[in-house]
Amino acid sequence: MTKTATDRVTNDLGLLARPRRLRGTTGIRDLVREHRLAPERLVYPLFICEGTGVRREVSSMPGVYQLSVDEAVRETADARNDGVQSVLLFGLPADKDGTGSTASAPEAPVQRAIRAIRRDQPDVTVITDVCLCEYTDHGHCGILDGEQILNDVTVEHLVSAAVSHADAGAHIVAPSDMMDGRIGAIRQGLDANGHQDVVIMSYAAKYCSAFYGPFRDAADSAPAFGDRRTHQMDPANVEEALREVALDLEEGADIVMVKPALPYLDVIERVKREFQYPTAAYQVSGEYAMVKAASRLGWLDEERVVMESLTAIGRAGADIIITYFARDVARRLRGER
Ligand code: PBG
Repeated sequence: MTKTATDRVTNDLGLLARPRRLRGTTGIRDLVREHRLAPERLVYPLFICEGTGVRREVSSMPGVYQLSVDEAVRETADARNDGVQSVLLFGLPADKDGTGSTASAPEAPVQRAIRAIRRDQPDVTVITDVCLCEYTDHGHCGILDGEQILNDVTVEHLVSAAVSHADAGAHIVAPSDMMDGRIGAIRQGLDANGHQDVVIMSYAAKYCSAFYGPFRDAADSAPAFGDRRTHQMDPANVEEALREVALDLEEGADIVMVKPALPYLDVIERVKREFQYPTAAYQVSGEYAMVKAASRLGWLDEERVVMESLTAIGRAGADIIITYFARDVARRLRGER
C-alpha cells in the first residue's frame, strides 16, 4: 500500500508512535538523558607567569588570566571549590631563547606552580603542557635550522621538559608539539628517571587550526614567521588522525587527545570507537573566544551554548574535556548557578 502525506506511521496495533512522550516533563527528560557532563571530567587550563600578585586578563579571552604562581594557587583552590579536580599548566617564562631552554628549568613558572599547587591542593591532578613554543624566542614548537624545525633534536628537549615537570610533581604530562616519536622518547625518559607512574596524555590528533589564535595572545607564542603546518595536522584529514593516535598508543600514550573539539567531533568519535582508550578533547581558545564575543553582543546565551557544546563533545566520545569554561560549568553542574 502506498502512503500519502496524511498517513501516520503506526505499529501493528494501529497506534501512533509518540517519541514526544519521553520529552514531556523535566523529570522524564532527566530519566532518559543519554549523556551527562560531570565536573570530574573537566580540565581547567592556567597560564603561569613570573612575579607575585600578577593577574592579567587576556584581551581576546575575557575571564582568562595570566597568573603568577601565588595567584595560580589561589585560582586552583577556587576551581577546586567549584568542583574542578584537574588543571593544565602553560608557562610564560621571562626569558626566551632559540632553544627554549627555560622549558626544563626547575625554577621556571610551570615547575614552581606544580610544586606550589601540589603542596596547597594535594587532591588536584596537575597536568602540564609540554611544548617549546612558549619558550623559544621565535615562537616555533622546536629547534630550528633556518626555517626548518628539526624533529629529533627537538624531541630531546621535549624529553628534558617532561622529566623536569615530573621531577616537580606533575601527575600527567601532555606533549602538544606534534614531533614524530616524542611519546616513545618521553616514556623512556620518564621511566629512566623513576617516573614510571607519570601518565602521558598525548595531543595525538592536533590540527593546524586558526582556532588557536587567542591562545597565542595568552601564551605570547605566535610564530615569528611561517606557521605550524609542517607538524600540526591538515584539518581535512581524519584517516591520518587515526594513524597518529595508533602511533602514540604504540609508543606508550595513556590518554589520547583530539584538538580542537567542536569542529572535530567526527574525529573524537572515530578515535574513541576505534581505540577505546581514554580520550580527551580540547575546547580551544578560539572556541572560547567566539562564545564570549557573541554573548557579550547579546547574540547568544553563553550558558546554554557552553552546556550544549560540551555535551556534544562528550556525546561524540570524549571522556575528558579541557575547557576554559571549567569553573563555570562545574558550578552549574552543582546547581549553584
Ligand atoms: C602549544 C599549544 C597550543 C595550544 C595548546 N598547546 C598552541 C599552538 O599549538 O599553537 C592551543 C590551546 C588553545 O588554543 O586554547 N603548542
